[in-house]
Amino acid sequence: MEKLRLAVQKSGRLSEKSLDLVKECGISYASGTGKLLASCYNFPMEILFLRDDDIPGYVEDGVADIGFVGENVLIESGRKVKTIERMGFGRCRLSIAIPRSQEYNGIEDLQNKSIATSYPHILGKFLKEKGVKADIHEISGSVEIAPGIGLADAICDIVSTGSTLLSNGLKEVESVFTSEAVLIGHKGISAEKQHLLEKLLFRLASVKRAKNNKYIMLNAPNKSLQKIIALLPGINSPTVQSLATEGWSSVHSVINEDDFWEKIEALKKAGAEGILVMPIDNLIL
Ligand code: PRP
Ligand code: ZN
Repeated sequence: MEKLRLAVQKSGRLSEKSLDLVKECGISYASGTGKLLASCYNFPMEILFLRDDDIPGYVEDGVADIGFVGENVLIESGRKVKTIERMGFGRCRLSIAIPRSQEYNGIEDLQNKSIATSYPHILGKFLKEKGVKADIHEISGSVEIAPGIGLADAICDIVSTGSTLLSNGLKEVESVFTSEAVLIGHKGISAEKQHLLEKLLFRLASVKRAKNNKYIMLNAPNKSLQKIIALLPGINSPTVQSLATEGWSSVHSVINEDDFWEKIEALKKAGAEGILVMPIDNLIL
């Protein structure tokens, strides 16, 4: 039987979140440090641990069928793969930064400067669009130290929390690109693997939905029930059960994370008591 091969970043910003998602999909694998390939126990899948920069190429070539990778890495690579889904984690931006002590009045200040980056293609396109001529100095790592050692006037690199810039005495002056993790796929995978991919996507969707929703239980006097039910649409409609105490009911439903606190306040106002909110592991519609 064929196995789906998933590429994930070996160590870095996206590693933990990617692997957590696999686990949340109910898939377990033999983990160990320094492993290149891990087989999953309860799903026909293998996990390939790679440098993030290598993931688009492996997926393009079909060595991996699918992979979690930052859009920044994907776009820079120029590889021809399918973007299956935006994952909503690993949000970051690609920005130009200069030494904090330096004045900055606008993009024309970058004219004829040298900029160190691991993203020469994305940066080159950005500068061209802005009509700025600068010397792009491609380096593969530790970009943030370039101005400090006199290698370049500025850098263009990924900013997530901003702590790397801060600890290197740099300030962000231009935002070039915003990015998040995406699930990419090989163009033209076999029908059997496509079937496995669909199974995985079904689980991913259920996990994603579950994360955006919470299970809520509350008690309400029967006279407030109509009001409370109107506030809680649930999946179909809320469950209502009588309490042992005459004239009271227990109401169960699912609520969305987005307007969570507003909902709770409105429910209290409508007469709800003993409100209990719980996380959901999976939500299948
Ligand atoms: C980026 C970037 C910085 C860091 C910035 O590396 O090169 O080192 O993240 O994050 P911060 O703003 O939270 O300090 P990334 O993890 O994207 O990958 P790489 O090491 O493979 O280049
Ligand atoms: Zn990398």
